Amino acid sequence: MKRFVVGISGASGMPLAVTLLRGLRDAARALPGGAQVHLVVSDAARQVLALESDLRAEDLLALADVVHDARDFGAPPSSGSWPHDGMMVCPCSMSTLAAIAHGTGSNLLHRAADVTLKERRPLVLVVRETPVSRVHLRNMLAAAEAGAVIMPPCPGFYARPASVQDILDHLAGRILDQIGVPNALAARWGEAPREMDRE
Ligand SMILES: Cc1cc2nc3c(=O)[nH]c(=O)nc-3n(C[C@H](O)[C@H](O)[C@H](O)COP(=O)(O)O)c2cc1C
Repeated sequence: MKRFVVGISGASGMPLAVTLLRGLRDAARALPGGAQVHLVVSDAARQVLALESDLRAEDLLALADVVHDARDFGAPPSSGSWPHDGMMVCPCSMSTLAAIAHGTGSNLLHRAADVTLKERRPLVLVVRETPVSRVHLRNMLAAAEAGAVIMPPCPGFYARPASVQDILDHLAGRILDQIGVPNALAARWGEAPREMDRE
């Protein structure tokens, strides 16, 4: 059975985090042997969730198989001896980016990302801020040089999105692509755009 770790930090983008978790849950069922989704949510993310979504924190947590307290440094994702197949931080705040880029983590999410890098496993950082300062850019470069994939949630308009959910689905699918999870969420270039599908 495969295992994936999702970290949610306190940047804007909770609807994307929800779409990613739902997509990963559905895609995991289709994987041979299945997959387990482990979730770590920062304190700030809980605050942003309440502001950006009608979803209750319990409903968000219910989308994962295992939820770890962000203050629990003894949880499995804090150790490299606990194998997994990839971690996504979605959304990734500039504060969490900085902690990961410089190895100065202060919660389980940071520690799990740090471990993912040192074990040379896939780490996708869905960094969210705009505009970005030189500090943010330097931290993105440092994280990329350490092995992370920097993936700002930029819409793919070539997919002809007709709704916000279309944009979220495409972004979530492209994030899953990065950790090798086959999915039908992302529109594929060369295949019929959704708008045409509806005609
Ligand atoms: C509604 C709301 C939206 C926010 N959006 C962002 C954002 O897009 N990017 C960012 O870096 N920080 C954003 N912040 C600030 C972070 O939540 C703050 O820096 C926090 O310390 C991040 O902590 P964490 O990285 O441990 O989750 C936002 C805060 C709130 C309340």
